[in-house]
Amino acid sequence: MRGFHLNLCDIHNHVLFGVDDGSENREMTIEMLKSYHEEGIHTIIATPHYNPAIWPVDREILRERFEEVKQLSEMVSPDFSLYLGCEVFHHREETLEDLKNDRVLTMADSRYLLIEFPFHATYDRIRRGVTEAILTGHIPILAHVERYDCLLEDEERIHDLRSEGALIQVNAGSVTGMSGSDVKRFTHSLLKYGTVDFVATDAHKSTGRRTPKLRDCAKLIAKKFGSAYATRIFVYNPKCVIEDMEIDTF
Ligand SMILES: [Fe+2]
Repeated sequence: MRGFHLNLCDIHNHVLFGVDDGSENREMTIEMLKSYHEEGIHTIIATPHYNPAIWPVDREILRERFEEVKQLSEMVSPDFSLYLGCEVFHHREETLEDLKNDRVLTMADSRYLLIEFPFHATYDRIRRGVTEAILTGHIPILAHVERYDCLLEDEERIHDLRSEGALIQVNAGSVTGMSGSDVKRFTHSLLKYGTVDFVATDAHKSTGRRTPKLRDCAKLIAKKFGSAYATRIFVYNPKCVIEDMEIDTF
């Protein structure tokens, strides 16, 4: 199947070590990079959490750590292309100010912004976060939409958020069934209607449940939903993010 040979890209992960609840140290990051290499994933946007209340890590520290991890990646394989972004946690008060004042790292320095909410956030809050991102000149990518109660209970809301300008990301483990059959069914329904723009690993560690795995998921999507859609999700849309080009959501 052609889907097997895609040059996959991971736009959401915690491969930078010692800056959030992701990789714990240099050794773990090296192991994660080896897994990426084995999976055939050579394009990575590192997205450490941006949530100053929990991880008060300065942007300059993140950039330094990123350079360090880039060097490690070159040791593992010369084929890697690494970019820096972050996963912004939406706070009711602070996020809008942070966005207005460019305090948040965007994806590969583009207009794209990966944003997450509390799992029990209301739909109004998620809509507000999306609107705030758009009004401040960003293109919001909603991280792991399958995790929010208010969206799980009404899938139509995801279509509505997308119509308003949000792009939709789901986690690979949710698509392959690692988060249970209900979540799998939900993500497959989104994929069936072409509502998913990105599938990413959200990898946190080198072992366990959240590791850098995408290939089985890409294979599944290519087989069930078509190679063209898999190519769009895993290759074309990430390329648009990196090159700061508009994504066609038709
Ligand atoms: Fe994440």
